[in-house]
Amino acid sequence: MNNQYVKTYIDQNKDRFLSELVELLKIPSVSADSAYDSETERCAEHVKQSLIDVGVDFAEVCTTAGHPIVYAEKMVDPNKPTILVYGHYDVQPADPVELWDSPPFDPQIIDGKIFARGSADDKGQFYMHVKAFELLSKQGEIPCNVKFMIEGEEEVGSSNLGLFVKKNKEKLAADVIVISDTSIINNETPSITVGLRGLSYVQVEVTGPSKDLHSGVYGGTIDNPVNVLCEMIASLKDEDNAITVKGFYDKVEIVSDQDRKAMSEAPFNKQDYMSAVGVKATRTEKGYSDREGTSIRPTLDVNGIWGGYIGEGAKTVLPSKAFAKISMRLVPHQEPDEITRLFQEHFEAIAPESVKVHVTAHHGGEPVVIPTDNPGYKAASRAMEETFGKKPIPERGGGSIPIVALFEKELGLKSILMGFGLDSDDIHSPNEHYGVFNYLKGIETIPYFHQYFAEESAK
Ligand code: BES
Ligand code: MN
Ligand code: MN
Repeated sequence: MNNQYVKTYIDQNKDRFLSELVELLKIPSVSADSAYDSETERCAEHVKQSLIDVGVDFAEVCTTAGHPIVYAEKMVDPNKPTILVYGHYDVQPADPVELWDSPPFDPQIIDGKIFARGSADDKGQFYMHVKAFELLSKQGEIPCNVKFMIEGEEEVGSSNLGLFVKKNKEKLAADVIVISDTSIINNETPSITVGLRGLSYVQVEVTGPSKDLHSGVYGGTIDNPVNVLCEMIASLKDEDNAITVKGFYDKVEIVSDQDRKAMSEAPFNKQDYMSAVGVKATRTEKGYSDREGTSIRPTLDVNGIWGGYIGEGAKTVLPSKAFAKISMRLVPHQEPDEITRLFQEHFEAIAPESVKVHVTAHHGGEPVVIPTDNPGYKAASRAMEETFGKKPIPERGGGSIPIVALFEKELGLKSILMGFGLDSDDIHSPNEHYGVFNYLKGIETIPYFHQYFAEESAK
């Protein structure tokens, strides 16, 4: 790879790289909301065209029972290793839209940041791979075969991608998977994500009386399901902030003191961390640091809670039902189905006789750990060192990409999580943004990953 070529190419094309990303971000490909289905499909076509434009052998939009998957490939030489790029073109819903400073699908570049839903998660990040491939094609020397698989259902659980992978093992055969859908520590401190948490997600329903009642006539004897739900939720953590669900920690991986020490050496400024999200204190499970709380330890969080009267003014009512959505982030070696079952049993066991409870399971996902002693990790590490001037730190992330475990199971491939976002990009939140620096740094780094992956694989 000619460093000067890479630098010059990016410099001469950066405005176009940005305006092309802006066009992609204008398409509201919200996978969770069927009102956007035709836009989501249009987005898939747009991604396919963008791949054709950068010189792949062929690109196709593969229909599924849900949103389509875009597949493309460039096979240069059967003797060269193959890189499979995975990303997602679907985005989270933009609401609450009124909290955005500019419309979520009318991208604005302000102070070196691109503001739009999907800018960091994941359009801006997978599109870096498209533009990096353009750079490689134009150079005329492509070090590895490349396959692209860009899906439209990551934010809703990737269930159809799972089927697609199982049915297309040969087509997807590769030597490594590379994914840019995670963060680095900060722009001066590159890192590579070597772990993702799993997920168990449930909805609970607590039913008291068979209908809403007058809170004066019945209050004092008939138990209130909203009060009960609050008590039950409060009891799910103890005074050490540990989760009380029976058996919850039984399989949790015990990280060695040596590994914990190594992890604690990554830079972390607690004051900046807190002020960025507007809090004065954090609260972690006893015995664990803030960073450990978001990486090597599991969680239980209420994502939403409702019931009773929430309209204007006051209505004196003793509600019949209360609901909550609860997520549990899992670490190795917790199993999502087992955790969901343990939660269900526990929640039913702690319910007072005055109510009925019902637990419904949503999509889940397994945690993953990525080893560092393989050509893919080494190539990513060398590539980032080349462009950041610093060796990246391996770090476990707190989020989940459930399909990564399935890639390992079905394709026998580890994924290299070489993301370029920042935790402060406000993904899934109002005013999501992606740094222009990060976008261009990704486009600069990825070609080296291809080059070094070819070298490392030949060793
Ligand atoms: N890109 C994120 C996951 C992520 C973000 C990992 C930051 C590490 C750092 C992904 O799009 C996502 O949002 N995943 C969901 C999982 C899902 C099943 C909806 C999540 O983590 O909540
Ligand atoms: Mn993502
Ligand atoms: Mn996401």
